[in-house]
Amino acid sequence: MVKICCIGAGYVGGPTMAVIAVKCPAIEVVVVDISKPRIDAWNSDKLPIYEPGLDEVVKACRGKNLFFSTDVEKHVAEADIIFVSVNTPTKTRGLGAGKAADLTYWESAARMIADVSKSDKIVVEKSTVPVKTAEAIEKILTHNSKGINYQILSNPEFLAEGTAIEDLFKPDRVLIGGRETPEGRKAVQALKEVYAHWVPEENIITTNLWSAELSKLAANAFLAQRISSVNAMSALCEATGANVSEVSYAIGKDSRIGPKFLNASVGFGGSCFQKDILNLVYICECNGLPEVANYWKQVIKINDYQKSRFVNRVVSSMFNTVSGKKVAILGFAFKKDTGDTRETPAIDVCKGLLGDKAHVSIYDPEVTEDQIQRDLAMNKFDWDAYEATKGAHAVCILTEWNQFKELDYQKIFDNMQKPAFIFDGRNVVDAEKLRGIGFIVYSIGKPLDAWLKDMPAIA
Ligand code: UDX
Repeated sequence: MVKICCIGAGYVGGPTMAVIAVKCPAIEVVVVDISKPRIDAWNSDKLPIYEPGLDEVVKACRGKNLFFSTDVEKHVAEADIIFVSVNTPTKTRGLGAGKAADLTYWESAARMIADVSKSDKIVVEKSTVPVKTAEAIEKILTHNSKGINYQILSNPEFLAEGTAIEDLFKPDRVLIGGRETPEGRKAVQALKEVYAHWVPEENIITTNLWSAELSKLAANAFLAQRISSVNAMSALCEATGANVSEVSYAIGKDSRIGPKFLNASVGFGGSCFQKDILNLVYICECNGLPEVANYWKQVIKINDYQKSRFVNRVVSSMFNTVSGKKVAILGFAFKKDTGDTRETPAIDVCKGLLGDKAHVSIYDPEVTEDQIQRDLAMNKFDWDAYEATKGAHAVCILTEWNQFKELDYQKIFDNMQKPAFIFDGRNVVDAEKLRGIGFIVYSIGKPLDAWLKDMPAIA
């Protein structure tokens, strides 16, 4: 029986291993983590992350061929294939601070693997890492090898939060990079056989190590760039009277451009895009490519611009001040169907409004009050959208939760101060209908109301 061990029971490691286990009953999969509360949660009825379909998958194989454990060393020692799926946050201090990836967790995982291994191992990079990380890991392992053969593979994960199980069941592609040596090819083949249990062979791409590592950063950079491109257009649409949804639809019909990922928004968030672009920028700079670095930096600059443009629009529309005014925030997660707030644009928008002394009141169906406390050092959190908007001067919609489309806006309007404003950062509400009720409505990238035209935002 092939044994797989995954170090790191987070958003990537947990769901990915659960899917491998459910698709490969003959493989034993153990997910290990040093955090006992996290492992306990994976072993309980309330899993530590929310993903549609995850509960069912875990229930189907937990205790059979899927296990969660804190006994890291034992399971690493026993495994044939070790996935490393630990955090690689952006460095906050020292060389490369603010840009380079922090590989502390990765390095200690590699050293631990070297310490406890007694048989040959395939070590798989699952978390996104800077290009050439495999080389560093290889050095740590081979310098401490005690005669053991290690093969390092890069197998980046492309799943998105909220659709993790769907993405894992039907991936657009699986990418496996390895050394171009007979041993390297053998290792690639071994991992390919795992995925081949459910992924068609033509969707499993094999490359050299560096191509696989770089492809992950490149994919995220291209996706984020699409959003910054459409968001840049949204500013121009507001200035000219064009409608960004119509522009997105029109350009998306070009099969070379395609229709997906062209929704203008208050900005992209999530744990990956900004981190990976910063990392890409750093790699470019380290390789003496400042022009390339600057090109990608611009994607982040436009994202920051979009968030501050939104705040400026709110403040300027409300007579240039929100001081002492209640502003209701509907949606705090970085996108719908998740409680994750990492890099959510809502943090910057709220900080901007708080900086202008607004009284901010937040409602999100999945984000907890504790999380808001950690993100904003404040605890004005409401359990209900109607409570959050009661007595407010303005409502800002920052996450595209479906339920925000179905709220009783007449009731909300009746309980708000007048003039009542709605700033829709996700284009989820029917602006015309809300104008009919009496709201002044701002929709990102859409033609402006007479009111908003009279009060231009200074970005
Ligand atoms: C992303 C990548 O999609 C995934 O392949 C990678 O493995 C990890 O990073 P994720 O961060 O989970 O996944 O979310 P994603 O759905 O890509 O959304 C990222 C951000 O972009 C969100 O804040 C979302 O609201 C925003 N977005 C997305 C837009 O503003 N407009 C769009 O058209 C699409």
